[in-house]
Amino acid sequence: MNLIFLGAPGAGKGTQAEFISDYLNIPTISTGNIIRDALKSGTEVGLKAKDYIDKGLLVPDEVVINIIKSRLIESDCSKGFILDGFPRTVPQAEALKEMTILIDKVIDIDVSDIEVEKRLSGRRVCSSCGSSYHILYKPSKIEDCCDRCSGETIQRKDDQTETIKERLKVYHNQTTPLKDYYKKQNKLFIISGEGKVDEITKLTIEAIERKV
Ligand code: AP5
Repeated sequence: MNLIFLGAPGAGKGTQAEFISDYLNIPTISTGNIIRDALKSGTEVGLKAKDYIDKGLLVPDEVVINIIKSRLIESDCSKGFILDGFPRTVPQAEALKEMTILIDKVIDIDVSDIEVEKRLSGRRVCSSCGSSYHILYKPSKIEDCCDRCSGETIQRKDDQTETIKERLKVYHNQTTPLKDYYKKQNKLFIISGEGKVDEITKLTIEAIERKV
């Protein structure tokens, strides 16, 4: 099954993708993670993306489209995949269509801006393995220390209050038109992303298993 997880920054796309990836045994492809890895390794893509990410802006379409093109031809995608954070603009969705990749469902995780701000400002990520925590909702056992690898947990630069506001603005202007785009194709399933993580996972599974 080929899925897209849509939603505001901090809606819980990554959190849900982790569960659904295990449930369906398909990989998650997060453009955000791929770009951050490129940044860490100092590649050309990473360097091009840095300023955009730090300011809360979208990385240019051609950069992310090329990332997706080369990732989707890898063998682990043959049985399906979850796209987390792609597409984020109509031209990106059009590029996906041109790749003749059939999307089965688009799950839109709906969360208010206020909740987004709470979630992102409290999020901490492991600087070593990338595991994600929240200071209130999902704290690590030892403060600032990753449960999985003992790496240091830090706040992402784009999770600072002013940048969160910019990311939300960008989301409302450039990404929300995708809801209509996929609604017209009868592929859009909207679920509430507010509540306990396992309740939202249940809603996500229901949406995935619902007949179109
Ligand atoms: P990216 O990394 O994709 O950021 P994002 O979409 O802004 O999403 P996040 O990863 O911040 O949030 P999420 O929805 O996955 O939430 P999470 O599960 O972590 O992109 C970063 C940047 O890269 C972009 O700004 C852009 O510059 C660039 N980029 C990436 N893709 C691009 C593209 N296609 N085009 C152009 N540019 C692109 O949850 C958030 C927090 O909330 C966590 O702490 C979690 O523990 C907590 N949480 C989750 N669920 C719940 C719950 N139910 N209750 C309480 N807390 C919860």
